Amino acid sequence: MPYRLEQSLLEKLLKARHVMVLTGAGMSAESGIPTFRDAQTGMWAQYRPEDLATPQAFEQHPARVWNWYEDRRKMVRDAEPHAGHLALVRMAAILGSVRIVTQNVDGLHQLAGSKRVVELHGNINRSKCSVSHRPISREWLQDSDEQPPPSPYVKHGKARPDVVWFGEVLPQEALDEAMAAASHCDFCFSVGTTSLVQPAAGLPLLALQNGAALVEINPVGTPLSMHASQCIRGPASGALSSIADQLTGLLNA
Ligand code: APR
Repeated sequence: MPYRLEQSLLEKLLKARHVMVLTGAGMSAESGIPTFRDAQTGMWAQYRPEDLATPQAFEQHPARVWNWYEDRRKMVRDAEPHAGHLALVRMAAILGSVRIVTQNVDGLHQLAGSKRVVELHGNINRSKCSVSHRPISREWLQDSDEQPPPSPYVKHGKARPDVVWFGEVLPQEALDEAMAAASHCDFCFSVGTTSLVQPAAGLPLLALQNGAALVEINPVGTPLSMHASQCIRGPASGALSSIADQLTGLLNA
């Protein structure tokens, strides 16, 4: 079986009381969702990320930013979870406590059936008021031809995607939940992330400091690699499916 978890780690995983899985853009890649930069093709190629995903960009060019996210939303709507997302659901059924902490905004973990998902960077399928940050319903958005639709709450407010833009702080509740998960887990996976963007990048290190075993899944090395008990150099789908199969095998042995 390719991408095997080492036997000692597999046994540790089976005994783990709390498992945390941190996922990044590489987790969604095999579902056909390009990373932010890779998605900047066609008419979007002329812009820098900060022209499309900052509060300043939205203030100066709300229609441009809204339409960029409309394009991203269409891509997400067409995407389906892959074998790796489903493997995490299988692993949760076996292990009980698996807490997923994701930097992705596409909702694919939930679509696959994962129950305990912490969204660090929001969710592109939700919208909120640019001023009050209160959630805005899809029905309200559908009734408007404006791009972006106005806020139902505040006179000069507009609908904006409920995602964390560059330069914005992460939602405190999600960050607290993620830190708690990292502090309490005894096994941590870091999947498909460059481990460069803080504060998410610090979570596996927090887990490590608290005695957790750490496994990285990424086709290439990252700054986290040197701290991991094992680095599985492969795609998320193959590696996670393989680990779920190994767990099932160990249970049935
Ligand atoms: N399986 C696993 N990992 C993969 C795969 C795959 N099939 N394909 C690519 N990767 C890895 C890449 O090697 C890279 O390390 O996924 C990582 C993707 O890196 P980034 O695109 O930088 O994503 P991420 O680290 O999640 O970025 C964090 O920063 O720019 C923001 O919005 C972005 O929320 C994201 C955050």
